Amino acid sequence: MGMNTLYKGIFKNKKVLITGHTGFKGTWLSLLLHQLGADIYGYALDPPTNPSLYKEAHLDEIVKSTIGDMRDFQKLKATINQINPEIIIHMAAQPLVRASYKDPIETYSTNVMGTVNLFEAIRQTKGVKVVINVTTDKCYENREWHWGYRENEPMGGYDPYSNSKGCSELVTSSFRNSFFNPKEYDTHGVAMASARAGNVIGGGDWAEDRLIPDFIRAITNGRQLLIRSPYAIRPWQHVLEPLNGYLTLAAKLYEEGHRYAEAWNFGPDDSDAQNVEWITKKICEYWGENAAYKIDTNPQPHEANYLKLDCSKVKAELDWQPKWNIDKALRSIVEWNKSWLSGDNAKQICFNQINDYFKS
Ligand SMILES: NC(=O)c1ccc[n+]([C@@H]2O[C@H](COP(=O)([O-])OP(=O)(O)OC[C@H]3O[C@@H](n4cnc5c(N)ncnc54)[C@H](O)[C@@H]3O)[C@@H](O)[C@H]2O)c1
Repeated sequence: MGMNTLYKGIFKNKKVLITGHTGFKGTWLSLLLHQLGADIYGYALDPPTNPSLYKEAHLDEIVKSTIGDMRDFQKLKATINQINPEIIIHMAAQPLVRASYKDPIETYSTNVMGTVNLFEAIRQTKGVKVVINVTTDKCYENREWHWGYRENEPMGGYDPYSNSKGCSELVTSSFRNSFFNPKEYDTHGVAMASARAGNVIGGGDWAEDRLIPDFIRAITNGRQLLIRSPYAIRPWQHVLEPLNGYLTLAAKLYEEGHRYAEAWNFGPDDSDAQNVEWITKKICEYWGENAAYKIDTNPQPHEANYLKLDCSKVKAELDWQPKWNIDKALRSIVEWNKSWLSGDNAKQICFNQINDYFKS
């Protein structure tokens, strides 16, 4: 299928604003939207890592970027007013569990008030048709059970990051009920949804304290990888999976907003919800060259042990499903990094993987 016909061509020439475009997922989303012919705008702080995919992929050549803080309501509102986007994908956040233990105020103010500011700016400016709040699988009240969480289960979150995303979900439902109610869609014209994805992996992620970036750092610095929580199960998925999910959802919201304005899980198939040690062994195997790891036995801050998503709803109603299994995802990460380390251009590697993904 050619890229032009994907999502019925809805994104071609559309003004799309991505908050958090300088981050890992934001950069991949921008590259994907560029392939679809969208007119892309971004609002975020500077790239959160060094190196960063944003810089490596020269994203400023394809995204009209505003560097600004989600907590700065006036600047955010003025930016939205000026751009006048039809579609907003909200991804700007403090996204790390361990960083949230170190600085809960930063985490809550960005993740909760940042969301409030965005929604209020949308309410005050008019013109936005679709908004998707990207939260996480961690927003659910974790019961440490083996079943996947469904969209209608309670919000929770033990650590400040997970809890801030649960709060951001609650903010979404409050704004939707109060101001963008699907029952009054004809009067306000805004379709507001949220998307809860799993543990995202892919080439070009250099975040602190995430398994795959830690692995790449260890390999490139000639150190042995130390892993925490070897038995913790997560719903691992390649970054293109949820991005394809967000765009599938955005296209539906654009066409029939009132029907899809709710919460959606985008997770992998059950067989891909594996534990940390399983993933580490696989990536070491695919990397070769004597890649190895050790288990870190030091005490660690609390993180959930079991976490799976039930994705029945999204498969039935949005006809979305994962395209790559965990093996393919891990192999693509090894390929991405080896290619980048050999001097290939990050943007081109991503474009090749995007094309490969949509062919499968
Ligand atoms: N990576 C994952 O495994 C994963 C899983 C589920 C959900 N998510 C969610 O997806 C989104 C993107 O995650 P990522 O992995 O790309 O993270 P990232 O750290 O690479 O990017 C975060 C982005 O948010 C921006 N940002 C942070 N604080 C800001 C502030 N105060 N004002 C404006 N911008 C700010 C950063 O500049 C950056 O552009 C986040 O909302 C995250 O919670 C990520």
